[in-house]
Amino acid sequence: MTQDSNTTRAGSLTVVGTGIQVGEQTTLGAKETIEKAQKVFYAVADRAAAQWILGLNATAEALSYDMTLPRRRTVYEGMVDRIAAEVRKGLDVCAVFYGHPGVFAHATHKAIKILRQEGFPARMLPGVSAEDCLIADLGVDPGPLGCQSYEATDFLIRPRRFDPTTAMILWQVHSIGNLGFWDDHTDRRPALEILVEVLVPSYGPEHRVYVYEASIDPAKLPRIEPVLLAKLPEAKLSPFSTLFVPAKKAAELDPIMMKRLGVSFDS
Ligand SMILES: C[S@@+](CC[C@H](N)C(=O)[O-])C[C@H]1O[C@@H](n2cnc3c(N)ncnc32)[C@H](O)[C@@H]1O
Repeated sequence: MTQDSNTTRAGSLTVVGTGIQVGEQTTLGAKETIEKAQKVFYAVADRAAAQWILGLNATAEALSYDMTLPRRRTVYEGMVDRIAAEVRKGLDVCAVFYGHPGVFAHATHKAIKILRQEGFPARMLPGVSAEDCLIADLGVDPGPLGCQSYEATDFLIRPRRFDPTTAMILWQVHSIGNLGFWDDHTDRRPALEILVEVLVPSYGPEHRVYVYEASIDPAKLPRIEPVLLAKLPEAKLSPFSTLFVPAKKAAELDPIMMKRLGVSFDS
C-alpha cells in the first residue's frame, strides 16, 4: 500500500484524475502534472475532455479500447502494458483518467503496483469522483448515518450483509448483470428486477431511490430522477448513472455502549 522507497530508476508514473467536469474539477496538481509530463496517456469519457488534455500537452495519446477484447481485465492489462512501456524507456509519464483515477480503475492501481516493484517512482493524485459530485448535488452527508458503496453486479453476485440504516451507492447500475467490457445491449430489466427483489425486504417497495448523473458541463444541471424502489426496472439509465439508496431510518442507539463511553446527545 505504501510508496516503495527503493525508487532510483529514471522514468516515473503519476496517475491523475480530471474530475467529472474537466478543467472545473481538475486539481491544480493534476493540471501541472499533465503539463510537465514527457508523455501523457488518457482515458476520458468525452471528446472535449480529450481536447482539453491535448491542449495542455501535445504528447497526449488516447488509451483507446480494443473492441475485439471481450473482458474488462484484458482491456485494462493492455493499458497497463502501454503505460509501463513508456516509463521503462525513462520517461516521466502522466496517465489521466476521468473522475478520481483510483475509483473503478483497475489499470491505474495495477500500473502503479508493477512499476513500484520494478523500482520506478509511481503515485496517484486524488481526483473528484462521481461520488463526490453526488454528495454535493443530492445534498447528502455520508457522516451522520454512514455510507456503503458497491459495484451493482458485484453487490448481487457476492451476497452482501448490507445495512439499510446506512445510505448505499450502487455504481455501474446501467450494466448490472454484465461482467464483460462492452455494453452488449442486453435488456437489463431482469437484472434490475433481481436487484429490487434483494432490496425490497430491507427497504420496502415504496422506498424512494435516486438515479443520479452528474453533469460533465458546469453550465448544466445534474440529472436526478427519484423513483420508487419497486419501479426501478422502468427508470431511464445510462452508462453514467449511479444509484443512490437513502437509509431507511437511522440505526438505533445502544444506551449501554453510550454509558460505557460516557457520551450523550445532551452535552
Ligand atoms: C468505470 S466507473 C468510473 C468512475 C470514475 N473513475 C469516478 O471517479 O467517478 C463508471 C461508473 O461511474 C459512475 N459515473 C461515471 N460518471 C458519472 C456521472 N457523470 N454521474 C454519475 N455517476 C457517474 C457510474 O456509476 C458509472 O457506471
